[in-house]
Amino acid sequence: MEFKDKVIIISGSSSGIGKKLYDDFKVEGARSIGFDINEDADYLVDVRDYKMIKDAIEDVIKKYQRIDVVINCAGGNSSRVLNENKPFNELSIEAINWGVDVNLRGPIYMARATINQMIKQESGVIVNIGSVSGVTGSSTAVDYSASKSGLEGLTKSLALLGAPHKVRCVMISPGPVLTRPDMANMPTALNRAADTSEICDLIKYLCSDKASFITGSNYIIDGGRSLGGRKHEQK
Ligand SMILES: NC(=O)c1ccc[n+]([C@@H]2O[C@H](COP(=O)([O-])OP(=O)(O)OC[C@H]3O[C@@H](n4cnc5c(N)ncnc54)[C@H](O)[C@@H]3O)[C@@H](O)[C@H]2O)c1
Repeated sequence: MEFKDKVIIISGSSSGIGKKLYDDFKVEGARSIGFDINEDADYLVDVRDYKMIKDAIEDVIKKYQRIDVVINCAGGNSSRVLNENKPFNELSIEAINWGVDVNLRGPIYMARATINQMIKQESGVIVNIGSVSGVTGSSTAVDYSASKSGLEGLTKSLALLGAPHKVRCVMISPGPVLTRPDMANMPTALNRAADTSEICDLIKYLCSDKASFITGSNYIIDGGRSLGGRKHEQK
């Protein structure tokens, strides 16, 4: 029960990795707090909107007086999420803005809104969910890849900022995860996609005190997808 009573905020908590984390942490006795644009969330928060984040965070601090963990899960490939299904050179500017805003600006906003509380309490962990696309680049997800790469700079910078105050920031970069059946078709060296629990186990480890010496690192968890290079990506 390592996470008992810990205040854990998860963006993108209504689906996929975020939902599994939300449920798992609850089972472990934590105070899981979900931020999502989906109405079932504890807080209706669009991570593109700083005021919505700030208001929700102020309410959480009022209720619990602390924030132990923030996990930035909200994200996705704009061309898929917005149903444009077009290559970058035909993608609308609205889709590109969505991609950068949700995948990069959102985690920056979440950090800005929460890190002062963590600094004050001299503890806390921020976890950014990247993607293997941010490591390898992707011809089919350009704004997504660029935003996920950007998260690495955010992770390192927050790690440096937080270190004197015992605040850690870490990142994971998953390959295909079975949050959607079509992810099973993406090639990896291990010839399968990850089960959502395999990704959540790593995140939970990084959030725990067992990972107390880890900060600023990006963990690639991709079944070897990043070893395959361009040919692999296009298969
Ligand atoms: N599934 C994969 O194969 C995979 C692989 C690599 C990285 N990732 C990353 O992991 C994270 C979670 O992926 P998933 O597949 O579990 O996602 P998902 O699509 O199942 O869930 C994303 C959640 O984010 C929410 N969301 C979308 N826009 C939002 C906004 N503006 N504000 C707040 N919430 C918003 C959605 O409502 C949804 O609940 C994402 O950042 C994604 O890029 C996923």
